[in-house]
Amino acid sequence: MTQLIVRPTARLSGTVPVPGDKSITHRAILLAALADGPTVIRRYLPADDCLRSLAAVEALGVAVEKAPDLRLRIEGKGAAALKEPASLIDLGNSGTSLRLLTGLLSGQPFVSVLTGDASLRRRPMRRVIEPLTRMGAEIFAWGGGERAPVVVQGKRPLKAIEVALPVASAQLKSALLLAALSADGTTRMTEPARSRDHTERLLPQFGAAVAVGENGISLTGPQRLRGAEIEIPGDLSSAAFLLVAAIIAGASATGAAGGAIRLPSVGVNPTRTGLLELLAAMGAKIETEQPREVSGEPVADLIGKPAALRGVTAAGSKIVAMIDEFPILCVAAAVAKGETLVRDAGELRVKESDRIAVMGEELRKLGVGIEELSDGVRIEGGASLRGAVCNSHGDHRIAMALAVAGLAARGETVVEDVQCIETSFPGFVDAFRQLGADMTLVAD
Ligand code: S3P
Repeated sequence: MTQLIVRPTARLSGTVPVPGDKSITHRAILLAALADGPTVIRRYLPADDCLRSLAAVEALGVAVEKAPDLRLRIEGKGAAALKEPASLIDLGNSGTSLRLLTGLLSGQPFVSVLTGDASLRRRPMRRVIEPLTRMGAEIFAWGGGERAPVVVQGKRPLKAIEVALPVASAQLKSALLLAALSADGTTRMTEPARSRDHTERLLPQFGAAVAVGENGISLTGPQRLRGAEIEIPGDLSSAAFLLVAAIIAGASATGAAGGAIRLPSVGVNPTRTGLLELLAAMGAKIETEQPREVSGEPVADLIGKPAALRGVTAAGSKIVAMIDEFPILCVAAAVAKGETLVRDAGELRVKESDRIAVMGEELRKLGVGIEELSDGVRIEGGASLRGAVCNSHGDHRIAMALAVAGLAARGETVVEDVQCIETSFPGFVDAFRQLGADMTLVAD
């Protein structure tokens, strides 16, 4: 089991690249596989989750070429050219691959079986299966239709449907949009809160028409996609660990000297920037420079510096724009003065781990006063953190959040089982070391 040893670090400074966005990389790969003609994807995320989507499209007969400079070339031959996979498709830890491929394969007239690791096989699938079944796909899943493995007998054409999505989930929405591409007629959906809209932004890059309005999203099928040139922005969800570290570094030291970190070309899509807004409300000053647009997505350079934080409340429809940043928000809240309250975040219980329970258990080991609520947490911030041995529970974002907490704790922190960081942030330890963090990876 690989461990990460973290020692207090009073100052982070410098510029590091942030790996490509995980959500957008998945979508670019899947849309490229459906498209007619080659797609080139620059700065893709070569992390385990996205490589699972890539291996899946190869299993469907699509030729893929990985160039060393983070460039992918995908030789799409149109949706009709996809072939029945010869074997089961193993999606590892990747919920996005599982949900989106279930949608994509619903429109393919053959049988596919999708599975993954123990964490993925615990995650809810009925929410995706139910509307896809209404569209005409036949789908069987373990646990009485609840969980992977999932067997998809797709159909072409599917039937368009109108659906009010029961949860604000971009994976669910995107699964239905991918299915809608091979349905006859207009599929319409509404969401209870606006989830990340990368699929809606990427579809037009591949020549598809999708209407996004006050009253929801609609897509009229069938539609053919054409190959595209896509550039992936840096992942704000990875940048979040670096930014919070730069803000809180030195929290355990007296008279810490303030450095600054610069993160070039990070995605700042408003459906993802919830943490930036919360950090600003907590008293941090994250500067954005050179705002621009890349493949339909807003990006900017981000600059983070030390700041004294105060507690904050995060609840309601704002939660969806920071859902993946909950673990690192908890770390910021532990250092902040006063109480932080997170509510309406029950979805955290069905992520790669039960993130509410796991953050409670692990932060308590570091001396944080954290109370678990059914749909969130209450954190009494401001007490100084003390180094401890803690565990990722196999969840990449928990591992990274605990590593950042260790930088601001007194004494040494050991984070056990950190191999999972490869799921989304290859080069995590190198990036932190480059900024001056005292972190050592110990593999055994
Ligand atoms: C993702 C959507 C979110 C997020 C996940 C990535 C995506 O999940 O938590 O890390 O790429 O669509 P849900 O759609 O289940 O909320």
